[in-house]
Amino acid sequence: MLCLGIESSCDETALALVRDGRPAGQVLYSQADVHALFGGVVPELASREHGRFIVPLYELLAREHKFSPGDIDCIAVARGPGLLGSLLVGVAFAKSLALAWRKPVLGINHLHAHLLAAGLEGELKFPAVGLLVSGGHTHIYHIDSPARFSLLGRSIDDAAGEALDKFGKMLGLPYPAGKYIDRFAASGGSPMELFPKPYLDNDNCDFSFSGLKTAAATFLKSRPELRFQYDEANCLPVPPGGSAGLELAGICASYVHAVAETLRIKLARAIERIQKTAALASIILAGGVAASGTIRKTLGEMSLQTGLPLYIPSAALCTDNAYMVAYAGELLSGLGLAHSLSFTAVPRGAQVPDDYHAAFGYRAF
Ligand code: KG4
Ligand code: ZN
Repeated sequence: MLCLGIESSCDETALALVRDGRPAGQVLYSQADVHALFGGVVPELASREHGRFIVPLYELLAREHKFSPGDIDCIAVARGPGLLGSLLVGVAFAKSLALAWRKPVLGINHLHAHLLAAGLEGELKFPAVGLLVSGGHTHIYHIDSPARFSLLGRSIDDAAGEALDKFGKMLGLPYPAGKYIDRFAASGGSPMELFPKPYLDNDNCDFSFSGLKTAAATFLKSRPELRFQYDEANCLPVPPGGSAGLELAGICASYVHAVAETLRIKLARAIERIQKTAALASIILAGGVAASGTIRKTLGEMSLQTGLPLYIPSAALCTDNAYMVAYAGELLSGLGLAHSLSFTAVPRGAQVPDDYHAAFGYRAF
């Protein structure tokens, strides 16, 4: 089976092919430089960029990977969550192709696609517990099958990636700052307990990272020397020299440690809760923040302790991409599911269906 995937939920425009569960070519345009000027994603700009690039990217994919419409078995597109204007570009393009080619189309939950992405690199084991950590979401799911997810917990304010990006902004790092903080933290030695592990004193599996950000802001207020400078010539942030640089590395390590430990503790709670009534076969970690070395290591230790295998996509499949969307589409299509052409992008605040069998608008074909 050959599935064409389309991703346009935030600031990456991407199209990819997945053939029989394996990546078969992708074109991806990241708008990060456009938004970096503003310190975060500007929704209007994002949808305009998707609109400008989606057709040229499609033409590039078709040219580089030499496929014709007749080769495609299904079209999958991220329908949400994300920025509505951006999602609409991808959804409208996917529907146009489906209409013109008379092929089945599937609207994919972007968060599910992240969690299934590791399946492109090896077989996943279900039922699984999945932790999705990205710039906009921190969600824990009980995943029965690729078509059935149940939400166990989520961030009630900032997502884990947002907590890293906002901390980075305080330090003078460009957006998105997660990768710089993570890389610099790795040179910081053993982390100190400088920051609180937020929102643990309860019995739920939700997250709240806004207190962590406030604690960091308070800490940094009286320490203006602890900032990065931006080297325009090499397009790289540069840490301060001498002892301030060393101290800043330790602070970054402590911040990432607080995020990683909070994720670990809440995930352990979710596992314990699931295992009271059902068996689990694996842990899946996914999303842009899953590229963090510290977080991968922390959950790796947890996998050893619980005896549950841990699946994490390689770094390029952790951040937004269209392979994951195509792959989710292929799996659902393999179950005989597809959308009618009346499906829509899902606006902020509305729920993107977690159960494809029960979801209105899905039909067996
Ligand atoms: O999944 P993603 O690409 O986009 C969203 O759907 O949000 O995740 C982006 C997030 C950003 O917050 C970014 O700072 C973070 O992932 N990120 C990282 C790393 N690479 C990207 N965070 C920590 N360590 C990294 N290596
Ligand atoms: Zn994402």
